[in-house]
Amino acid sequence: MPVIKSLGYNITIGKDALKKLSAFLKSAKYSSHFIICDENTIQFCLPTLIMTCPSLQEAEIIELESGEESKSLDFSAHIWQTLIENKADKNSLIINLGGGVVSDLGGFCASTYKRGIDFINIPTSLLAMADASVGGKTGIDFAGLKNSIGTFAQPKAVFVYPDFLKTLPQRHYKNGLAEVFKIALISDKAFWGVLRNLRPDHNSEQLLTKSITLKNKIVLKDPFDKGTRKILNFGHTIGHAIESLLLGTPNELLHGEAIVIGMLVETHIAFQKKLISKKELEEVTSTLKKTFETTKIELALGTVLELLKNDKKTSKNKFRFALINKIGTAKFDVEVNDTHVKKAFDHYNTSI
Ligand SMILES: NC(=O)c1ccc[n+]([C@@H]2O[C@H](COP(=O)([O-])OP(=O)(O)OC[C@H]3O[C@@H](n4cnc5c(N)ncnc54)[C@H](O)[C@@H]3O)[C@@H](O)[C@H]2O)c1
Repeated sequence: MPVIKSLGYNITIGKDALKKLSAFLKSAKYSSHFIICDENTIQFCLPTLIMTCPSLQEAEIIELESGEESKSLDFSAHIWQTLIENKADKNSLIINLGGGVVSDLGGFCASTYKRGIDFINIPTSLLAMADASVGGKTGIDFAGLKNSIGTFAQPKAVFVYPDFLKTLPQRHYKNGLAEVFKIALISDKAFWGVLRNLRPDHNSEQLLTKSITLKNKIVLKDPFDKGTRKILNFGHTIGHAIESLLLGTPNELLHGEAIVIGMLVETHIAFQKKLISKKELEEVTSTLKKTFETTKIELALGTVLELLKNDKKTSKNKFRFALINKIGTAKFDVEVNDTHVKKAFDHYNTSI
């Protein structure tokens, strides 16, 4: 069974991952356990977890509404309140059983409660397995801005049990696949080749092991996002802006869906900056369009540019993007201006 070593903790992937969790809990001897789940994972994943780990029968369950709206200060307050009411102490453990919303929010609450208590991630969506549960970024959305409040905090362990994907809706599976494609584009040309010819009956465990290994390699080089880790933001500067602008509207997109648009737009910017050839532009564009659904973006460009100016990655009003630099490698802090963004949006909208 694959075990990947990260920043002081292990990521265990495979059919026996929950049995390994059971052994972990037995030896760790926490004073109490709190399981954070949402309305879907409580139904589809919690029974399997408790059956495999009987020591969790007494755990306090904190249930959230499903969806991005839960990554909020209100829900953080609800979690902290529940921890206080149930006398959680420094030796309590938070178990995040869910997608990226649960791991981002649960990790944030754990890392701030009593100046930080232990938490583990049991990701249940493809996006959380391949990306969100690994790397130590936690956070919530605030003032209409995605992930604007958060911490760096490493989980004590991550247990990836791919069978949980059996109940994940197809739209959410595709959502996670976006981050898998991103990691290949920025760090592994051979893996990108595999993804270009991905069969519908592919083996998720192999895909996950490869993409977690690649992400982890980048995180280990730069845990605090000061340098090379920024390449993970490929597709995210534009993607986050679109995701934020559509949040709460009838056209709201899932994170990965916004990132696909972000990757398409930013690939064109990479082409304008002469980082990739016309052939590579066409290869990336056609592969992403073949794999994912994309729709026209009817947002005023001025609003997008305004939001980019608020982005964490913007300094002195010049946009700094992470862009692919030939397929399989990437560059960060590439200076981009309004005209590059406008041309890339036009290209995106006319090629849909
Ligand atoms: N911290 C990081 O490094 C990082 C990286 C990427 C994304 N993220 C964050 O992750 C979030 C998105 O994560 P997500 O796409 O997993 O969203 P999510 O947590 O909302 O899960 C997606 C949906 O799938 C449901 N679900 C999850 N597992 C299921 C299962 N096994 N069976 C049935 N339904 C299931 C959930 O209830 C939800 O409705 C965003 O907030 C994004 O910002 C964080």
